[in-house]
Amino acid sequence: MSVELDFIKDMFDSIAPKYDFLNRFLSAGQDIIWRREMVVSADIPQDSRVLDVACGTCDVALEVKRQKGNTVTIFGTDFSPGMLALGKNKIMKKIKDKSNGLKADNHSIHKNNTIHLVAGNALALAFRDEIFDAVFIAFGIRNIMDREGAILEFHRTLKTGGTLAILELTSPPEGFFRDIYLLYFKRLLPAIGAIFSKNSSAYSYLPASVLNFPTPEHFAATIRESGFKSVKCKGMTFGIVTLFIGKKSSLLQK
Ligand SMILES: C[S@@+](CC[C@H](N)C(=O)[O-])C[C@H]1O[C@@H](n2cnc3c(N)ncnc32)[C@H](O)[C@@H]1O
Repeated sequence: MSVELDFIKDMFDSIAPKYDFLNRFLSAGQDIIWRREMVVSADIPQDSRVLDVACGTCDVALEVKRQKGNTVTIFGTDFSPGMLALGKNKIMKKIKDKSNGLKADNHSIHKNNTIHLVAGNALALAFRDEIFDAVFIAFGIRNIMDREGAILEFHRTLKTGGTLAILELTSPPEGFFRDIYLLYFKRLLPAIGAIFSKNSSAYSYLPASVLNFPTPEHFAATIRESGFKSVKCKGMTFGIVTLFIGKKSSLLQK
């Protein structure tokens, strides 16, 4: 693996134990709403198969499960063992809680009750061509330098007409809110993140990576150029997050 990928993997391994807490705290709980909106917007059909790339602690995969129950087969993949281990625990806990309830009601546990986790790199997905109806990636694409390479992998594994849904932190447009937000984002957030995660570089890297991320319009153009049609981007919470949705075209237009 390259030095850059090793750096990102080690960083997420190190902050994994505090990742969920800091997400909720630093976004004031908005991250739950953003992921919920992402899954709703993807409009996943019944009996489909979906992939959560850079799944981390599996919040997107679990949100798909919450919305769709056992009608959808869900896979999650990430290269950080620390994040995946926490995700696995969350899934096991959810299944246990649910199965306890089902036992009381004298039902059986559905065989599709789990989320399948696979360790791996987004740039070389461990899945066959054209098997997913939807591919999700939340707060992951910003950390991947070769974004086009990753989007081409999403394209490869999606069925024609399948949905790509990308959620990412973006810079709000010029104006008063941006000035206030940047003050919080560049000064307060790294300080709070450093205290709780005990990793100061990770929460300094966060604002730097967001400020280096292309504008939503530019990134939407990259998605289109990678073989997706009907690409839409929707800013949320004053543009601090953007949701990108696209459909796989039959032909790669490059
Ligand atoms: C900010 S977290 C997002 C986790 C989760 N998707 C969420 O919504 O909270 C970014 C995740 O991307 C993973 N990641 C970054 N680059 C990756 C790559 N090239 N391949 C696989 N996973 C990657 C990290 O390990 C980390 O778990």
